[in-house]
Amino acid sequence: MIKTLSFIFILYACTALAKVVVPGVTFRNGVVAPKLAFGTGTSWHKKGNDTDISRELVESLKQAISLGYRHFDTADGYETEREVGVAIAESGIPREQFFITTKVYKYVRDPAAALARSLKNLNTTYLDMYLIHCPFFNKTTHGIDVKDVWLHMEKVYAQKVARVIGVSNFRFQDLNRMFEYASVFPMNNQFELHPYLQDLRLIEFSRRLGVIVEAYSPLTSLTHVKDGPVNGVVNKAAATHQVSAGEVLLAWNPAEIVVTTSHNKKHQEEMLNSVNLKLTQEEIMDIYQEGSKLTYRGFWKKEFEEWP
Ligand SMILES: *[C@@H]1O[C@H](CO)[C@@H](O)[C@H](O)[C@H]1NC(C)=O
Ligand SMILES: *[C@@H]1O[C@H](CO)[C@@H](O)[C@H](O)[C@H]1NC(C)=O
Ligand SMILES: *[C@@H]1O[C@H](CO)[C@@H](O)[C@H](O)[C@H]1NC(C)=O
Repeated sequence: MIKTLSFIFILYACTALAKVVVPGVTFRNGVVAPKLAFGTGTSWHKKGNDTDISRELVESLKQAISLGYRHFDTADGYETEREVGVAIAESGIPREQFFITTKVYKYVRDPAAALARSLKNLNTTYLDMYLIHCPFFNKTTHGIDVKDVWLHMEKVYAQKVARVIGVSNFRFQDLNRMFEYASVFPMNNQFELHPYLQDLRLIEFSRRLGVIVEAYSPLTSLTHVKDGPVNGVVNKAAATHQVSAGEVLLAWNPAEIVVTTSHNKKHQEEMLNSVNLKLTQEEIMDIYQEGSKLTYRGFWKKEFEEWP
């Protein structure tokens, strides 16, 4: 009787926990990350001197956790690290079951202090992934060169305080410059990637070097551009597969890892379901082709133009 009951209970517990399982991506050192990450930048990004914990973000993160998200993306500059830490603690799920990415830039002048601050905010002893948020700084502007920040990242990796180290918003030339000094080459590069920003050369270069490509802002054609050229083919594929346009865009994205976010539960569910959507070759090609008719960058626009 007890045995039957506990069997039924286990069965029930499994069903209750049977959320969408996001497939993993393996970095070249063997570490695995869920291929879909929940972002805490963009609209969550805190402005000015707002230092209060956002309960709205904490609740949204907990909802995402309950739906099956385990990979969370933040940055020192978003000022949302504490919310990620609180949501994970309140979820009751062990820290080790999450993949937490943060980035350094806002506090980059003192990399050791920036790391200590991020760990404290996230309420953790280690990061799953630590990225340099952008290559747009040097000794003159921020008191430190990219090279010295990277050498610090390598130390953090050697000390096992970060399981994976990498970069974000690095262009071809930024990666190229790292050959001069990196003894551990970045394992990941997170950059803006969507139908209106298809840097195929950077994707190819990253892959050849064993750098995982991670896309942010994958839904830009929906959220930032009105009536753009790609909408027709995206909506057609969405109708064919009976999914949302957002799911089509996530399934199309050529990156190994995609970061996206939403306040909305239904959207959070759709985004998760996109991991099971398979587009046809023709649909994929059509999106590349129509997308290439417009170029649009939503983030770091000024920096991309000004920095050599
Ligand atoms: C934060 O910003 C508000 C509004 O901009 C201002 O009134 C307040 O004094 C600031 N607080 C601190 C601690 O700087
Ligand atoms: C930090 O994590 C510990 C262990 O999970 C938890 O007891 C504590 O409440 C957390 N702190 C915050 C601020 O969430
Ligand atoms: C740092 O970057 C600024 C802005 O791009 C540039 O004007 C300056 O010459 C650079 N300084 C060094 C030391 O590279």
